[in-house]
This record gives sequence, C-alpha cells and structure tokens, in this order.
Amino acid sequence: MPLCESEITRAARTQSGIPAHLREDNFSRWWDDRLARYRGAIEDLSVEIDNPLKLSANERHALAARVRDTNMAIYRCRQPGNVDRAAIQALTSQLGLGKPDSNLCAADDGLSELEVNHSPTHQRYIPYSNRPIGWHTDGYYHTPERTIRAMTLHCVRPAISDGTLQVIDHEIVFGLLHRCDPRYTMALSQSDTMTIPANEAAGSGVRASVSGPVFSHNGDVLQMRYSARKRNIIWKNDSVVREAIAALQEILDSCAELAVTHRLLSGEGLVCNNVPHRRDGFTDSSQPECARLIYRGRYTQALTTMVLR
Ligand SMILES: [Fe+2]
Repeated sequence: MPLCESEITRAARTQSGIPAHLREDNFSRWWDDRLARYRGAIEDLSVEIDNPLKLSANERHALAARVRDTNMAIYRCRQPGNVDRAAIQALTSQLGLGKPDSNLCAADDGLSELEVNHSPTHQRYIPYSNRPIGWHTDGYYHTPERTIRAMTLHCVRPAISDGTLQVIDHEIVFGLLHRCDPRYTMALSQSDTMTIPANEAAGSGVRASVSGPVFSHNGDVLQMRYSARKRNIIWKNDSVVREAIAALQEILDSCAELAVTHRLLSGEGLVCNNVPHRRDGFTDSSQPECARLIYRGRYTQALTTMVLR
C-alpha cells in the first residue's frame, strides 16, 4: 500500500483535522440541517444598516443570524456617503473583530484599498488589477499562527460594469466534498496538503515557504485555506489529494445554485468567516475619482455570533 494511503487511513481513524460535529458518525445529521438553514439564509443575506458606528440590537441580531447560518452576511448602509474607514472599523469591531491583519499593501489602519494600482508593489497582485480572481480564501499563504479567520470587503465605489463577487460557505463546500468521498475531506485535512513556496519576488525574508491543510478547525469552528491558482501552489504528491482537489474544484466551478452572487454597490459590504470567494473582471472608469474602490480588512479572529446566545 502506498504511504499516502496509509496516512489517510490513519487520519480517517482519528479524524483529527475535523471538528467533532462534522465527523463521520455525526455528519448526516449535521448536514441535512445545515444545508436547509443555509439554503434559506442565502435567499435573504442583506441587512440594512442605519448607522455603522452604532448598530441597533435588531441589526446585530440580523447580521449574527446570517453569519451563524452561512458564515457571512452582506450589510447595506442607508447613507453610503457617510461611511469612512473609521465607520468600517467601528462596524467590524461590533462584530467581534479587532484591528485588521496588515500586509505589504495595507494602510496604517490595516485596511487595504483594492483598486487598480500600477505601482511596482501593487501590480504583482491580481486584486489591484481589473482582472478576474479565481476561487480562494484570503491569506491562504499565511502560517497557521496567522490564520485569517474573517474578512470584510466594503464597496466605496463599484466599477462601471461587472466586478461581481461569488461566495460560498466553506462548511457547505466541506459537506459537498465529504458526500463525494469521506477520504477527500480527510486527505485535505493533512498538515502538509498544500505548500506555498517562499515569496522570493517580494524580496528575501518577506515570506518563507508555508505548508498546511485545506481544512482545519479551531475548537468547533471549521476553517478553510485554498486557492485555485495553478502557479505557486504545491499540492501533496498523493493520489487521493489529487482526486480531492479535482473534486473540490469541480464543486466550486458548478456551485452556482449554492453560491451567493452579488455585485457590491456603494455602501455595501461583505463580512464573512473567510469563506471561498471569487471575483469577475471589470471595466473601470478612466477618472480616478470614479474608479472602483473596495476596502478590504482581514482578521485573525472569527466573527462572533454571541449576540444570539
Ligand atoms: Fe480575496
């Protein structure tokens, strides 16, 4: 028996990479209820907000309910012109998130301004272009100690056309993959499933090579780490991992019925527990003051749903 299969057999026996409520004995009961609640919740994912500086109890409850059932929510500020960076930070802190995790292209407050940017630093990264971005979770190249558990995208200005987002709950992705073959979720929970080579283009010492699982958990909270990129990802040389990645990509490419497709407009934002997402390309304005601008925050904490307890 090849070594890779014996490793997966061991993982299947302990299921150590998977929260207890998702393990085989409990899976069916969890899945039926989870999928039903998810289908219902994505029909009505948006929450209107009067004042992001101070959410009302009803607004917090509405956001938390959607996060509980889908790991995400869309907020829509009634007065988009009044929403500045401080207001976004105030809103996210009311949802349990602290200061955003910083990166090379982030501002001092930790928010990144996603816009077409031709500077030498920015132009190496697709989010700063008008090109489409494939399925991924944010910060998939981070070390486990710096796992991105939540993120927000706030739209200041949409593009002239397109730039639509597609998002899907990673727990639903996990469930769909597990139904294909339980060995697949086991295989993708191995600690050496996915390796990101060192980021040498950004200069020595910026980022070392990082290995980790696709699926992991923090207590009962499932986390996902993934990119559909073909370059700069080294998948474990393992036949079941290869099958699992092909099945995962097939799920993401054919999940329109279970994904949320939404073009953010001015004053709207997505808050989520770093669920898989992709973006269509877009046509931008030639006038900088009218060009697409999205603020992005990434957080090492998960969104809280404590307001529901
Ligand atoms: Fe992203």
